[in-house]
Amino acid sequence: MKKFTVALLYNLKQNAPHHENEPWDAWNELDNEKTVGNIERVLRAGGHEVIGMEGDVTLPQKLSRYKIDIAFNTCEMHYGASREAQIPAILDALRMPYTGSGVLSMSLSLDKPMAKRVMAFHGLPTPLFQNFVTGEEKLDSKLKFPLFVKPSREGSGMGISAKSVCRNARQLREQVKWCIDTYRQPALVEEYIEGREFTLGMLGNLPWSIKRRSDDVPPAPIAALKAAKPKQIQSQVPDTLRVFPPLEIDLSPCPPEEAGLYTSVIKGKLYEVPKYLCPAPVSKRIWGKMEKLAAGAFAALECTDFARVDFRVRQDTGEPTILEINPLAGLQEGISDIVMAGEADGIGFAALINGILDAALQRNGLI
Ligand SMILES: Nc1ncnc2c1ncn2[C@@H]1O[C@H](COP(=O)(O)OP(=O)(O)O)[C@@H](O)[C@H]1O
Ligand SMILES: [Mg+2]
Repeated sequence: MKKFTVALLYNLKQNAPHHENEPWDAWNELDNEKTVGNIERVLRAGGHEVIGMEGDVTLPQKLSRYKIDIAFNTCEMHYGASREAQIPAILDALRMPYTGSGVLSMSLSLDKPMAKRVMAFHGLPTPLFQNFVTGEEKLDSKLKFPLFVKPSREGSGMGISAKSVCRNARQLREQVKWCIDTYRQPALVEEYIEGREFTLGMLGNLPWSIKRRSDDVPPAPIAALKAAKPKQIQSQVPDTLRVFPPLEIDLSPCPPEEAGLYTSVIKGKLYEVPKYLCPAPVSKRIWGKMEKLAAGAFAALECTDFARVDFRVRQDTGEPTILEINPLAGLQEGISDIVMAGEADGIGFAALINGILDAALQRNGLI
């Protein structure tokens, strides 16, 4: 296969700016050198030339020094309501192809209420919610306690702790205010969903996202998808998008202070404590439903190349509900949820990373 020159773009945690009064979990979602080094290593092993650089506003100048074919984007960036869309926006303006989702998808998915509005429009189940911008808003009468509070535009469990679960109006007002003040953004209030926790990773694209080389030839699955085991469950998911088996995050071994939630403490510090079960021990019915819903969310948010959708399965009804979609899912070797799910499906870390690159190359008509 043709080899490419790849710009590996990252935001290292060690380079993140710091502010007075920042929360302890600030920048939890940024990467460390090891994560970036592992991605670089496997892209090189895939035969590509890799040039790594911090994604920032000087990117156009830095990129112009090389002849780059495609960027591998892992940048979350630091400021603004649509920070994860900033590098895709710069790359679009430069007409440089890149891995992962584009500006629209990144902006919508980073803003949880906006992503929920889009999902609800498409009939995808997601908890009832209200977005609190000032914190003074009257609570929607459809929302019944217990309610769950989280920052609208964070990830990696930031701002999530036992206090996120509010059992009365006083707790809710306090937590909403804390959330708005601490994270300087609206607070999302949702129905609290009691139930088991799952996440589904995806690799590939919807057929219509792929640039066709000829109108007669339907897009073929990329190599990483073909190499994987045959699908265990039939669904309408196209051959060009692989949905990994559900990964269950069993939080029962975690300290009781974390209240059975996948908090920033667990994601950042205690990530070895939960039991990660993949394929999750679930019925074919729930597996099949989550698989279709994950692909549905991928399509609704117009994601490309890879993404991960988080679920809870409601204890009372047994129905899966979508908590959020992550087009910029973490890619830490051996640790990140999508990496574990890929491994359980016969797609090791090197195949996953090169599969993401191949998906982007194919989507852009480069292979
Ligand atoms: N509505 C909810 N009901 C119950 N738990 C929730 C709810 N929303 C989030 N959580 C818990 O908080 C965790 C993180 O929430 P999530 O929306 O996935 O944000 P993040 O971007 O931080 O991963 C979830 O994995 C789950 O444990
Ligand atoms: Mg999540």
